[in-house]
Amino acid sequence: MKATAKAPANIAFIKYWGKKDEVLRLPENGSLSMNLSHLWSKTTVEFSAKYKEDEIFINAEKEAGEESRVVKHLGRVRELAKLTYRAKVVSQNNFPLGTGLASSASGFSALTLAAAASAGLKLSEKELSILARQGSGSACRSIPDGFVEWLDGETSDSSYSLSLYPPNYWQISDVVALVSQTRKKISSTQGQRQAKTSPFKAARISAITEKIKTLKKALKMRNFPLFGQIVESEALELHAICLTSQPPLIYWEPPTLAIIKAVQQWREKGLESYFTIDAGPAVHLICQTQDEQAIVKKLKKIKGMSKIVVNRPAVGARIIDKHLF
Ligand code: PMV
Repeated sequence: MKATAKAPANIAFIKYWGKKDEVLRLPENGSLSMNLSHLWSKTTVEFSAKYKEDEIFINAEKEAGEESRVVKHLGRVRELAKLTYRAKVVSQNNFPLGTGLASSASGFSALTLAAAASAGLKLSEKELSILARQGSGSACRSIPDGFVEWLDGETSDSSYSLSLYPPNYWQISDVVALVSQTRKKISSTQGQRQAKTSPFKAARISAITEKIKTLKKALKMRNFPLFGQIVESEALELHAICLTSQPPLIYWEPPTLAIIKAVQQWREKGLESYFTIDAGPAVHLICQTQDEQAIVKKLKKIKGMSKIVVNRPAVGARIIDKHLF
């Protein structure tokens, strides 16, 4: 009863920010994302009578407490599989946690797939996505392949993600500029709770369905400038909500803004990329793959850069053979 899964982080082109149901993690709006080839988590889960309690190790550190989100998630799997066994979980990320790089998306999708397989559950992609969503919202988008849409849904069964296009549909890249490797002070769970205090929240929600439609059209036409403009304005809108929440949430660091300004200048000179930013200071530059190396070269010259990770569109969560213990 041991299984291992590898799952990607994802970057949201249309963001999830605010829940209509905290317990089930039902989002207030649908969202759209792309799985990332070079930011991932690997997780091994073993349910067995030999464990007296759930033992969880994330990047070699032991996580404690019955109340942990991982323990709760194992509980969901136990309930579905009608199991009483405790489990050992070992998880590794190839990037720093809590820096706004969607570690919970890769982490909870890998955990979901590995735990379900270890418990002997035979779940469809939709069922896995529904289960992953309850661990961490954005994790439901890391289950299907490539370019993914999360349907918001009014009930647990109707809130899941599906693949719109496979990874090879469009040769675009996400060049991630990490500008700080310190853990953020406010988690995205807390940030999302505060979103409703922003006076601009209602305006965002009233226009989001139309925005999703236009982005899907741009994706269908592979219209990169239209796609990029929507992605950028969506990122600024998310951060406008954060800045105007109570208490205000300022995820950006000085290099974040320096990159935003630089991207606009590069575009004026013919090098096309568009930025997007999740709940952290890291900037994702979406470009056509032919421009990837030119962007990396330019980014390296900006002060405050701590790491650059180049990603292509990727498959979703997969079972792999090599266990971590
Ligand atoms: O799933 P969470 O709680 O990690 O929230 C993710 C929030 C954003 O990354 C900012 C937006 C998104 O849709 O991924």
